[in-house]
Amino acid sequence: MFLWGTATAAYQIEGAASEDGRAPSIWDTFSHEPGRTRDGHTGDVACDHYHRWAEDVALMAELGVNAYRFSLSWSRVQPDGVANPKGLDFYERLVDGLLAAGITPVPTLFHWDLPQAEQDRGGWLSRDTAHRFADYAALVAERLADRVAMWITLNEPFVHMAFGHALGMHAPGQALMVDALPVAHHQLLGHGLAVDALRAAGAEQVLITNNCTPVRPASDSAQDVAAAEAYDILHNRLFLEPLLLATYPDLSAYGPMDCVRDGDLAIIAAPLDGLGVNYYNPTRIAAPTEAGLPFADAGITGVPTTAFGWPVVPDGLRELLVGLRARYGPALPPIYITENGCSQPDVPGPDGAIDDQARIAFLDEHIQAVRRAQDEGVDVRGYFVWSLLDNFEWAEGYHQRFGLVHVDFETLRRTPKASYTWLKEFLAAC
Ligand code: FCB
Repeated sequence: MFLWGTATAAYQIEGAASEDGRAPSIWDTFSHEPGRTRDGHTGDVACDHYHRWAEDVALMAELGVNAYRFSLSWSRVQPDGVANPKGLDFYERLVDGLLAAGITPVPTLFHWDLPQAEQDRGGWLSRDTAHRFADYAALVAERLADRVAMWITLNEPFVHMAFGHALGMHAPGQALMVDALPVAHHQLLGHGLAVDALRAAGAEQVLITNNCTPVRPASDSAQDVAAAEAYDILHNRLFLEPLLLATYPDLSAYGPMDCVRDGDLAIIAAPLDGLGVNYYNPTRIAAPTEAGLPFADAGITGVPTTAFGWPVVPDGLRELLVGLRARYGPALPPIYITENGCSQPDVPGPDGAIDDQARIAFLDEHIQAVRRAQDEGVDVRGYFVWSLLDNFEWAEGYHQRFGLVHVDFETLRRTPKASYTWLKEFLAAC
């Protein structure tokens, strides 16, 4: 069965930040620090999904999706390192509600919201966090793996390393540049240890989700081509090669990965049942203009952009998928597009309706790109729209709307957009 779903993440939708024993995560800390997010927005309330989950499940049932990718808040489930039964109860209610509605639950264990207590012990710069992540995975799976077959360990470890630890625009707000590399290794090690823990508790399918981008050199010059290769290593290969080939690519442009110990790569390369791919846009790279990193972002011009300013290049998704298959061949597991979508202005009309034609075109063209990749032999088994609801878009707060369903952040009222109706009709005809 091809999975058609929507995707969300805990900190972006749940709210109820200090209810039922939840402890702060790094995103609570970060968003409450002055100047970190646009207009000081926080996820304290977000979409209040913690209380309105049944309404949100009903919206998905009406939409006709057969899968839902959500994430668990580690600090709700295991605040300060100790199991919180009330946190587990919430996810059990949600899973049971999804199953009753005929929707396959696809939980992600880590979507960037590390418990602050783990951060205080060193966070992902510390190897211990990988072991604690596996303990948390075991705890959750012991409660839910009898009903949840498919699991995703991490969401976009590249973005968490780059934005959270190298550049500092996401939590935990560290700007370590290349010294952030251990964050990649420890997340990957945590993934590998969690695969084992999940399977031991009965999980049938385990995936990881990476943010992947096809990288294009800005010109044919040797300098631009070399810079594009360097960027491809950092963004894509650093996170795929250990998983699929049990090896790191040549990282000499970035510095030594001296935190890797004997045996780690065998743990990281535990067989996967699928690879989650999040696709938003391709990347165009030129030779660096100043000392520092071995590349410069040349930007993509001449194409439409989203409200975020991200270039809209649907065929980049086909290019990415076909490229992954060419690069990894039989080592590439089945692919699930675990996020794809766009932010749009989404201003309600006088009658309150949101006529988001640009999102409809975006989704339609990207689904067609997936089909072209399938025609070229890529094994794609799922497609999840980011996102079900408008939500807390990290450093952008509530300013970027990605939902199929509009959320009024004053009243928390949900209003399906035109794209929701379009997708509903599309799915009914599938
Ligand atoms: C991805 C994140 C997701 C959301 C989208 C727009 O990188 O995984 O949480 O912010 O971007």
